[in-house]
Amino acid sequence: MTANYTEADYNHHSPEIAQDPYSFLAAVRGKCPLGHSNELGGFYFPTTYEGVKRVFAEYKTFSSADGAGLPDQLVRLLPVDLDPPSHTRWRRVLNRFFTQEAAEADRPRIQGLADELIDAFAARGNADLVNELTRPFLAMTTLPVLGVPLSDRQMLSEKLLWMVHHRLNDHDGWVQRYGEIAAYLTNLVAERRTATERRDDLLQCLIEEEFDGRMLTDTEGYQVLILALFGALDSTSSAMSGSLYHLGEHPEDKARLLSGEVPWAGAIEEFLRFTTPIQTLRRTTSKETELDGGLVPEGSFVLAINGAANRDPAKFPEPDKCIISRDARDHMSFGTGAHICIGRHYARVMIDICLKTVLRRIGDYRIEDGFQPDYTASEARALKTLPVVFTPAAAPVG
Ligand code: HEM
Repeated sequence: MTANYTEADYNHHSPEIAQDPYSFLAAVRGKCPLGHSNELGGFYFPTTYEGVKRVFAEYKTFSSADGAGLPDQLVRLLPVDLDPPSHTRWRRVLNRFFTQEAAEADRPRIQGLADELIDAFAARGNADLVNELTRPFLAMTTLPVLGVPLSDRQMLSEKLLWMVHHRLNDHDGWVQRYGEIAAYLTNLVAERRTATERRDDLLQCLIEEEFDGRMLTDTEGYQVLILALFGALDSTSSAMSGSLYHLGEHPEDKARLLSGEVPWAGAIEEFLRFTTPIQTLRRTTSKETELDGGLVPEGSFVLAINGAANRDPAKFPEPDKCIISRDARDHMSFGTGAHICIGRHYARVMIDICLKTVLRRIGDYRIEDGFQPDYTASEARALKTLPVVFTPAAAPVG
């Protein structure tokens, strides 16, 4: 077959594209659905659901071993930068901290955190649900699971979120923060090795268990922790704030959820599809391959754009509408295949508790007049703020 693709300079770090990546991607899908961008060193990107799914699923052709970020992160992130079979052995060790059972058993603690955060503003009648609820809620839920002290939440959130969103526009600032986080996390691993008290968290596992037949170095421990922190500090907050934005604009959907007309579990999958908190992951081709009607040479970067898969009308009719009663279970927000998000069960429990608690406590909230949504750019796309107003302490506490 002949080389064929649509030239389109997609760049997920562009603040303009971050506001609306979907119309750009739809325009490419309408031509040859394999896109090629000259940005960020050049890469190919499929725009159909099936094309994106193949990139995630076929690790022998689309390898993660050369890194999953575009542009590259400064350090290797583990286990995301590994291919099976080594990756499979790593996941076997890590999975137990993030099982559905573990997430479900943690519900009482997570519920307490949601109530505590809402208590702080319920009587006020207004709030920024991103900065006062979804971001701190996510961090307070996940840091103890990882074994990272909650007292360092503010510092870690500031540095890591800055790093996620300023990778291209301030290289020196990025390198400096990487150094600070590396020193902090490597020290945390080293400290735990000498601690007398044992804990049941990810950090303990990193110093006690064998990964692929050997113990980890402090640096490798840090490379696992920093990836988990990226996952733990941003993505789920984006799903929760995006869902709350939709419900604030669509009181009829609040009512359908509260009455039981639409089951929560299905609606949460649709919220995940619609918000697509992680927009892109990178792979490198190990051989020439056909993809979305075009040909990708060996050694090329391919960007799997989760958001492209989630808005393919052939898979999800009327993809730009959030339809809470649709069956969205096959969405690509957590990726698929070997690297499917390890934190997805926790993410679903957090979203479930957060949305239900908001509707119970400040259920008549609406989006502040004149609000213009503003989204962060990079792999992670999230609302920067979500100002709402509601009847002060309208609902009973508890
Ligand atoms: C709505 C929330 C979330 C979304 C949309 C999301 C998305 C993703 C995606 C798309 C991947 C696949 C990466 C790849 O294929 O290269 C992934 C992997 C991962 N996620 Fe999440 N994530 C979320 C929540 C979380 C949470 C809460 C944690 C940790 C507590 C987490 C930790 C991880 C880790 C460690 C990996 C790497 C897994 C591997 O390489 O095997 N994520 N996530």
